[in-house]
Amino acid sequence: MARVALTRILPFPAIDRLREVHDVTVWEGPEPPPEDALRELVRDAEGLLCLLTDRIDGPLLEAAPRLRAISNLAVGTDNVDLEAATARGIPVGSTPDVLTDATADLAFALLLASARRLLPASRAVRAGEWVTWEPARWLGDEVTGATLGIVGPGRIGRAVARRAEGFGMRVIDSKAMELDELLEQADFVSLHVPLTDDTRHLIDAGALARMKPTAHLVNTGRGPLVDQDALAAALHAGTIGGAALDVTDPEPLPADHPLLEAPNLIVVPHVGSATHATRERMAAMAVDNLIAGLDGAPLPHRANG
Ligand code: GLV
Repeated sequence: MARVALTRILPFPAIDRLREVHDVTVWEGPEPPPEDALRELVRDAEGLLCLLTDRIDGPLLEAAPRLRAISNLAVGTDNVDLEAATARGIPVGSTPDVLTDATADLAFALLLASARRLLPASRAVRAGEWVTWEPARWLGDEVTGATLGIVGPGRIGRAVARRAEGFGMRVIDSKAMELDELLEQADFVSLHVPLTDDTRHLIDAGALARMKPTAHLVNTGRGPLVDQDALAAALHAGTIGGAALDVTDPEPLPADHPLLEAPNLIVVPHVGSATHATRERMAAMAVDNLIAGLDGAPLPHRANG
């Protein structure tokens, strides 16, 4: 039995399986452990099951001298210093594939909601503004026949493309053409690249300026892919048609953040993988990764080394 630290209560059956074979200590708080508490949690841990909200960097690894396996409950691993973990010989697991469809569904839901202005229309109904059928009010943008630009046609990007084909869209992607050209041609742009030093603020003021004034930006990747000040400016100026974000920088986005004053903007709280079935599958995969790592066996899904 190895000592395992779990950074949040995870109410999924896979955690019972983990408890059967290892000695699990859980951070019981409703929010992520603060830095000091996280350091304390990992002090004696050999295994760590963490979330994308936990920053697992070099100093944290130094505070965990016995650590020999990390499992991140996410497909993205930008919260983990993979190089530092590799240098220590610690395998890091992630949870690809099992969340592809749920995340692609959410990206498409955001695309449709932004195109058809669902939020203002719904708000208007609740405000008693629906007085008759309106010939020229609450008009949105047509999806059928429009061009979708997929930035990062990996697993999730391709799954979004498949959905778009079902909606009669033309799909272009950043593997087949330069980003600038994609931004100029697309009516909808959906981001699916991992967050790295190279992709931080990939969508900056210059990129936004290339988009059509009617185009919508959808981000279900990571918040820092987009320069939010530039996005707010573009939405206020009406130089793009709308934006729908599942991810922001920072997360959570404070309720008084200036971005939330921008028009034609939808923000949801990082729920791409948030279905019952997907989160159960992610937990199962994260537990499989951790158990394998602690056994010294190859991880089913390893993100480093
Ligand atoms: C969610 O954002 C994930 O990376 O799994």
